[in-house]
Amino acid sequence: MCGIVGYVGGGSVYNVLINGLKRLEYRGYDSAGMALVSPGGDLHVYKAKGKVSNLEDFCADKNLEAVAGIAHTRWATHGEPSDSNAHPHYSEDGELALVHNGTIENYQLLKDALAQHGCKFHTETDTEVLVQLIEYIRTTNECELVDAVREALNQVVGAYAMAVVEKGNPDTIIAARKSSPLVVGIGDDETFLGSDGTPFIEYTNKVVYVDDDQIAVIKRGEPLKLINLKGSEEKVNVKKLELSITQLEKGGYPHFMLKEIFEQPNTLTDSIRGRIVEGGRRIILNGVMDHKDKFLNANRIIIVACGTSWHASLLGKQLLQDMCGIPVEVEYASEFRYSNPVITPRDIVIAVSQSGETADTLAAIQIAKSKGAFVYGVSNVVGASIPRETHSGTYIHVGPEIGVASTKAFTGQVLVFTMMALAIAQIKGSMEQKDIEAVAGCLLRIPDLVKETLRLNDDIQRLSLIYTYARNFLYLGRGYSYPVALEGALKLKEISYIHAEGYPAAEMKHGPIALIDSEMPTVIIAPKDHLYEKIVSNVQQVKSRGGSIIAIVTKGDTTIRELANHVLEVPDVPECLTPLITSIPLQLLSYYIAINKGKNVDMPRNLAKSVTVE
Ligand code: G6P
Repeated sequence: MCGIVGYVGGGSVYNVLINGLKRLEYRGYDSAGMALVSPGGDLHVYKAKGKVSNLEDFCADKNLEAVAGIAHTRWATHGEPSDSNAHPHYSEDGELALVHNGTIENYQLLKDALAQHGCKFHTETDTEVLVQLIEYIRTTNECELVDAVREALNQVVGAYAMAVVEKGNPDTIIAARKSSPLVVGIGDDETFLGSDGTPFIEYTNKVVYVDDDQIAVIKRGEPLKLINLKGSEEKVNVKKLELSITQLEKGGYPHFMLKEIFEQPNTLTDSIRGRIVEGGRRIILNGVMDHKDKFLNANRIIIVACGTSWHASLLGKQLLQDMCGIPVEVEYASEFRYSNPVITPRDIVIAVSQSGETADTLAAIQIAKSKGAFVYGVSNVVGASIPRETHSGTYIHVGPEIGVASTKAFTGQVLVFTMMALAIAQIKGSMEQKDIEAVAGCLLRIPDLVKETLRLNDDIQRLSLIYTYARNFLYLGRGYSYPVALEGALKLKEISYIHAEGYPAAEMKHGPIALIDSEMPTVIIAPKDHLYEKIVSNVQQVKSRGGSIIAIVTKGDTTIRELANHVLEVPDVPECLTPLITSIPLQLLSYYIAINKGKNVDMPRNLAKSVTVE
């Protein structure tokens, strides 16, 4: 989703901004632009619909001399993707240029009021309203830009990360945030701004995470200043950016998605490191240990998440219920926040989010906190909003995920849920120590077993050719394999644009069975678990209706081999760990089908990696 880059300093402003925008491409966008302030104070805005490379082409013959600048990738919310709706937006007098992520909810009200004062609007965006409002206040009150920004933000309802530059003020950027990420990078006599740290990782690893309702005053030659919306100065906490440049490269793979699929043996090892110790006898998750009492006394756990994280959460529910005996509910964060949820102080709310920035999940956290619940975060991006807003939590530590379709973050989340369930079970005594050790011992072998599963790559690539032109897919699973079916279907539709539905296998007879014919492939996740016999009969039901079947089975399975058109054999693991293995072939299948169709797997149409608006 929209990304912001900013720079003030002696380096090439244009290069820092354009390369920074390229780093943010993974978030998803449909237009890009930048505003440059020249040493003499001239302000130029350049923008283009489509890729950052279009903006580069557009800028080729432009005046790029600058000492400060802001840039933006836009993911359309108000107004279609177009050159004019792209950011930055000028104020009507051309004195200010502003970029903005998020949504100004009361923009129509503000727009009407400004129109009454004679302001004219040239775009359909809420962003133009914000810049006009700031400029109206600046000129009416004859105040400094920072004061006008503060005054304007006091009138704004909604979510934003914004940055603004001013004509005649060549070394200053004013930026602010509320519910949308913003990070300042501190260099030597240069300062950077980003929606995350990726645009400036090669220049500095010193960062300041701007908090909600804070305004950052970035001036060349002066230390960064943070003020709140009342105008008082706040403390600047400089942190270390936990990111390296090699993590942002493809490392020889044609796409980030394939790299991330193949990274999983390593990312799972990283996630386990230091957490399962003494060969599986002890599980150390500080986030759980430090709040032991909360977990011991919890009446109920509610997990809130979106997208792939919601699928991982469904597995979290089964793991926590099976191992800890605590009732667990899983909610879409977007539904939870508007459902008037009944929450008591003895409930634990777990918020799961790869990016740590998803707007609906953040809002769900605020509601849970306001009702006195203990809120636990499971995130990947260190320092993101969700880990900062929650009382405690666990990072999945799988490194930056660039491909829009989540792969290694999904297995990382499932792994963290497994370790959480084991850690809580150990505290509660809800599982026998020998059983904990058996599962934890197997968990230590999971990275190697994932590596073994990845050897299916060539078979899956060949198999994908048969199904590239299927129009619909059904994914079925039961128990632990049901969320895997949902996730497999989501992966396929996200990147290949083939309609795919995930279903609990037994529910098939209540509707989807009507769709089955020779044109409708069914992927069945059928490892040897306590529901195996049941799923064999589901396989038979599909077969007897002429459907073609791709089955994911445990090594050595002969029963399903006789029924299915294709089988992909995966290593045998305890039932609760099967999702960490069975999800791997589904990731590869969707990847290869999308590649066969010539789709852009890393940046699928209309999707965003970090969904910072409702
Ligand atoms: C977007 C992404 C998905 C992701 C979902 C939730 O839709 O494209 O891959 O699962 O957001 O994101 P989160 O960062 O909260 O896990």
